[in-house]
Amino acid sequence: MSGTFAGRRILITGAGSGLGRATARLLRSRGAEMVLVGRRLEALQETVEEAFHVALDHTDDEAVAHFAADCPTLDGLFLSAGSLIPGSVASTPISAFDAMIAANLRGPWSLAHHLDSHLNPGASVVLVGSNIALRAIPDSAAYSVAKAGLHMLAKVLALEWAPRQIRCNAIAPGPVHTPMVDARLATSADPGGDLVRLAAVNPLQRLGTEADITALAAFLLGDESGWLTGTVIPIDGGADAVY
Ligand SMILES: NC(=O)c1ccc[n+]([C@@H]2O[C@H](COP(=O)([O-])OP(=O)(O)OC[C@H]3O[C@@H](n4cnc5c(N)ncnc54)[C@H](OP(=O)(O)O)[C@@H]3O)[C@@H](O)[C@H]2O)c1
Repeated sequence: MSGTFAGRRILITGAGSGLGRATARLLRSRGAEMVLVGRRLEALQETVEEAFHVALDHTDDEAVAHFAADCPTLDGLFLSAGSLIPGSVASTPISAFDAMIAANLRGPWSLAHHLDSHLNPGASVVLVGSNIALRAIPDSAAYSVAKAGLHMLAKVLALEWAPRQIRCNAIAPGPVHTPMVDARLATSADPGGDLVRLAAVNPLQRLGTEADITALAAFLLGDESGWLTGTVIPIDGGADAVY
């Protein structure tokens, strides 16, 4: 059957909320065996009950190594965990810069490093970047720089894993209304207005939905994208196509 994940074991980080949770639920509904990673065990259990739940901070390399040692072989990774501390270069202290690199780049690097030998031939890996790592916007400097590094990590891994027929791509979403966006809006004087303005910056004039992202994730993790590797795909209502 086209689009089935029966017999495949897929690991998802950030699986306790937002895009990671939505992707986990879609893949499970298509038959995948799930390994769900996040820092909050209860949230992972709420995402999909019948899964292998792993409470793990991916910024802790030693903990990632420890988990990887006992991890079963995998047919796919969807590395969605990440976070955003706003600020310009001038206003961002080095501690916040380090935190952004750790959450958005070092964590996925660490997982790719330690899980390398656990990936089956034919596996597909998807890294969740951002469209604001393709074009600069104000007030997200450290996050954008870290996600730009993640986009390059997808290309490097595509090259390194190609001899084993393992693919790696990144997706670069525009704004989708998840807990991450809610956290950002919570600091705003006009959250409703900000949400409308966020939706208006792309030609399609709407926010992305979780379903928009999960459809692309499933395509990239499945066999139908079999000749696609080393790409960074904007999924942002066309924002990347215009000034
Ligand atoms: N929503 C958007 O508009 C948007 C746009 C572009 C890109 N993105 C990217 O999409 C990804 C998913 O974000 P989202 O929108 O779904 O937001 P979200 O609901 O906040 O999800 C982020 C997830 O990452 C996990 N996480 C954060 N730091 C972690 C760490 N150190 N170790 C392990 N897990 C960690 C969090 O889980 P715990 O707290 O349980 O650990 C949370 O479940 C992120 O990489 C984000 O940068 C989002």
